[in-house]
Amino acid sequence: MPTLFTPLKLGSVTIPNRIGMSALTRNRADVSTTPNEIMKEYYLQRAVGGCGFIVSEGTLVTRQGSEWPQAPGIWNKDQIAGWKAIVDAVHSTDTKIYCQLWHLGRANHPDAPEQIAAGVPVYAPSAISARGGKFRFLPGKPGYVTPTEIEDPTTLIELFRQGAINAKEAGFDGVELHGANGYLIHEFLDSTSNKRTDQWGGSVENRSRFGLEILKVLIEVFGADVSVKLSPAGGYNDMGMPLEETLETYNYFISEADKLGLSYIVLARYIPFLDFVIDGKSRTTHFDVVSAFRPVIKNTKFFANGSFTPAEAEEFVSAGTVDAVLFGIPWIAHPDLAKRIQAGQPLDNSPDVKSFYGHPDTPPQLGYTDYPALTS
Ligand code: PHB
Repeated sequence: MPTLFTPLKLGSVTIPNRIGMSALTRNRADVSTTPNEIMKEYYLQRAVGGCGFIVSEGTLVTRQGSEWPQAPGIWNKDQIAGWKAIVDAVHSTDTKIYCQLWHLGRANHPDAPEQIAAGVPVYAPSAISARGGKFRFLPGKPGYVTPTEIEDPTTLIELFRQGAINAKEAGFDGVELHGANGYLIHEFLDSTSNKRTDQWGGSVENRSRFGLEILKVLIEVFGADVSVKLSPAGGYNDMGMPLEETLETYNYFISEADKLGLSYIVLARYIPFLDFVIDGKSRTTHFDVVSAFRPVIKNTKFFANGSFTPAEAEEFVSAGTVDAVLFGIPWIAHPDLAKRIQAGQPLDNSPDVKSFYGHPDTPPQLGYTDYPALTS
């Protein structure tokens, strides 16, 4: 019977245990969006702390005006070199690391310096803005804007191909396509943000096309080491459809993705921290995503993330419900999370929410690399 501490074959590699780290936006790259030394220290701490499998923070495949100005990118040589140093450090342990490829779609802001430098509009499947949002670092803290409709989605698909080529050059073990949380791929999937009347919108098959085509391109670059993250229940970034439509959409997308030979599919469960409250109501379509879609995943390893305790993770893995669990916030506060779980030691560092996303006026290590480890 598998437990959290049994190895798992994942694509072309083997991960030493079933305790992974999900992508976490930490916003500590250089202002040029280049990965740096402090990021290396952060990832290495967690690899040394027993993490079997790390998914990098969302990594931008092209220059964008993100809500987090120091989110890293992977579109130029300096960024590739910065990531390579991090990947090499992680590979000095048994830990494997994927790069999460990210395009924000309508969650960009045209006034952000990076977006201005990019010289292109904020693109999305349709000219529909998300509600809510706040670009804290921009004067007046504006919210989301109405995006420009993407004329030819294949040009965006090529950006993901290049992102994967660059991730390979940096030495990553694989790539995870960020198809969750209201960003570009999710915006195509969801009928509230995609009103296109061409082959990229309308039917479930058409809305799924963009994400599936990107996965095929990533496979051309990375073979068996390609995965996708989805958050079918929506919420974050004003995303979500009625339950029946959600089930229909994701049953199709997941069953098609399952035929591609991916290394894993990860579904995000409800995470209160990422819910959006709009007009006083939770934006999430509340249902149990793991049991809803478990039967659809037949050929691919299945991961889950979102508010797991170690005991629940053990239960899910030993029952075969999931192959691994990706923890998020517990890894922020415990650089040695997996070692603590294995040693039965307490998870007693409190996550400092204020420093999750960093702050230009405070040293980057605060709430980042300064959480104490108990184990050695
Ligand atoms: C965030 O920056 O808050 C964020 C980014 C990516 C996610 C979720 C949250 O998938």
